[in-house]
Amino acid sequence: MTPQTAATLHPPDAPDLDPTDINPAFAAQVLEGLSAHPKHIPCTWFYDRRGSELFEQITELNEYYLTRSETALLRGLRAELSRLPAGAAVIEFGSGSSRKTPLLLDALNAPASYTAIDISGDFLRQSVRALQLRFPRLAVHALEADFTAPLRWPAALEADVREQPRIGFFPGSTIGNFTPEQAVRFLHGTALFLGPGAHLLVGVDGTQDKARLLPAYDDARGVTAAFNRNLLTRINRELGADFNPQAFRHVARFDAAHSRIEMHLLSPAPQTVQLLGQRFTFAEGETLHTENSYKYPVAMFQRLAHAAGWTPHQHWLAADADVALHWLRR
Ligand code: TRP
Repeated sequence: MTPQTAATLHPPDAPDLDPTDINPAFAAQVLEGLSAHPKHIPCTWFYDRRGSELFEQITELNEYYLTRSETALLRGLRAELSRLPAGAAVIEFGSGSSRKTPLLLDALNAPASYTAIDISGDFLRQSVRALQLRFPRLAVHALEADFTAPLRWPAALEADVREQPRIGFFPGSTIGNFTPEQAVRFLHGTALFLGPGAHLLVGVDGTQDKARLLPAYDDARGVTAAFNRNLLTRINRELGADFNPQAFRHVARFDAAHSRIEMHLLSPAPQTVQLLGQRFTFAEGETLHTENSYKYPVAMFQRLAHAAGWTPHQHWLAADADVALHWLRR
């Protein structure tokens, strides 16, 4: 498409897009997802800077029990976590604000290095700077990457952590945002990435009580709704689409058969959007499926871990919710 064509497709107030600025993976996945039935977009694209900030606000909501329960659980496990190897390389997947990281680093014996992996680059660097101030003697690294795709160690980093025992850290029940098949693939990839003898600590939510789940994913103040709609704002900005985010309703649904919470953006009336020279029509009541959050009770998660080549070693449950921390070994 020529720039002129693009300009005529935009509403007059849309900023001009330089086609070379377009992230091809983002464009391809959005075009594919909007062409599919049901319409869907992978949840990794939530996390631009604004999305990462909104997600931090979600973690502080009264309704969002998960962060509070998991944080309290970690806090209570200091003595238990001190049994993990000393002098370790700690590697966190989807580190976000790295707010739970100090709880692990404080419990471990003289950790040698910390590598934060996140898709939101500037947010990542800011979090990692704060962490370095708090742990001045730790070697702190930031790896801007999409961990839902196979990960590779940058050579310099690999040389740095090769001799250290490795401890992977994957809190927040982010594992639930994969499908079970993707989760097995991710866990298997993580085993290869971390290497033989590695340990992996995974935070997993097993809550299946609808009365608790629905408000956690559809809060009274509308922060989760804003987070969900921010995806449309991002698509407008980065792909030159003309979504009206306010013309979509945030919806959270619990699918008991799949043990998952789903988030959707629902179009209450028929509407058409344009994007990269294509038109997409939403029928009345049609939804764009933006996220799954699978809920795994302990035994269910252990089966996934096993299928991916990990051995469940131990797990602990939070006092006030079905939130678990699993210690896996390979
Ligand atoms: N891993 C988190 C979860 O599934 C991510 C999350 C929580 C989330 N709340 C959200 C993602 C709301 C999107 C919208 O619980």
